[in-house]
Amino acid sequence: MSGAEPVIRPYRPSDRDAVAEVCLRTAASGADASGVYRDDALMPEVYALPYVDYAPDLAFVVELDGRVAGYVLGIADTADFIDWYAREWAPGFRRRHPVAGPPTEHRPAYTEAQLIADGGDPERMRIPELDAYPAHLHIDLLPELQGRGLGRRLIDTLRAALAARGVPAVHLGLDAANVGAREFYARLGFHELGSSRPEAPRLGIATS
Ligand SMILES: CC(C)(COP(=O)(O)OP(=O)(O)OC[C@H]1O[C@@H](n2cnc3c(N)ncnc32)[C@H](O)[C@@H]1OP(=O)(O)O)[C@@H](O)C(=O)NCCC(=O)NCCS
Repeated sequence: MSGAEPVIRPYRPSDRDAVAEVCLRTAASGADASGVYRDDALMPEVYALPYVDYAPDLAFVVELDGRVAGYVLGIADTADFIDWYAREWAPGFRRRHPVAGPPTEHRPAYTEAQLIADGGDPERMRIPELDAYPAHLHIDLLPELQGRGLGRRLIDTLRAALAARGVPAVHLGLDAANVGAREFYARLGFHELGSSRPEAPRLGIATS
């Protein structure tokens, strides 16, 4: 365990690979998803890299001993992101990942076929509450950074950045199997949105 204090700082383009790595290593309901899909690039290409490419100024990382080991990624205007994603990201994604491969021995509940379908379909992000909760986020910390108050600080950092832009509220979706994350968001004051379903929880919170 390191004695150094982790530092929260704005994202830099040189963090891109490390952000992808953190995404992969926390993508199996909060646990390591390495090898769960035939291509380890899939998860980051859906849930991390388009975020830092579209909104690098709303990405914040946690650096520990010179290494990025956590992040929060924010989108201020999800509707605009959907348009950008459809235009700039989905075509390349579909080219790189035309079909799902045969399942790995992990056989995840969130199948590779579904992940590939989601990666090519930004309309899945157009939730009914978008007018009231235009922003959305993803947050992930490697195990060594969890439980140290950094998740709360990252969410506070993003909420403040969104509030400063006049964005009233932020939402997120999470894996129903991720019980720890559900507890975390409840503790921070997130509430369930009307479109939330037991198998696909959706939460929101005001930015200030
Ligand atoms: C979920 C996650 C972001 C939480 O961040 P964290 O730094 O571990 O959480 P914090 O230490 O900031 O905790 C903030 C509060 O939530 C509570 N909390 C956090 N995790 C909890 C858990 N698993 N069960 C119960 N409470 C929890 C803490 O007790 C704390 O309460 P307090 O501030 O009132 O004392 C982080 O653990 C993580 O990245 N996990 C793996 C990836 C993941 O699941 N990402 C979310 C995907 S939707």
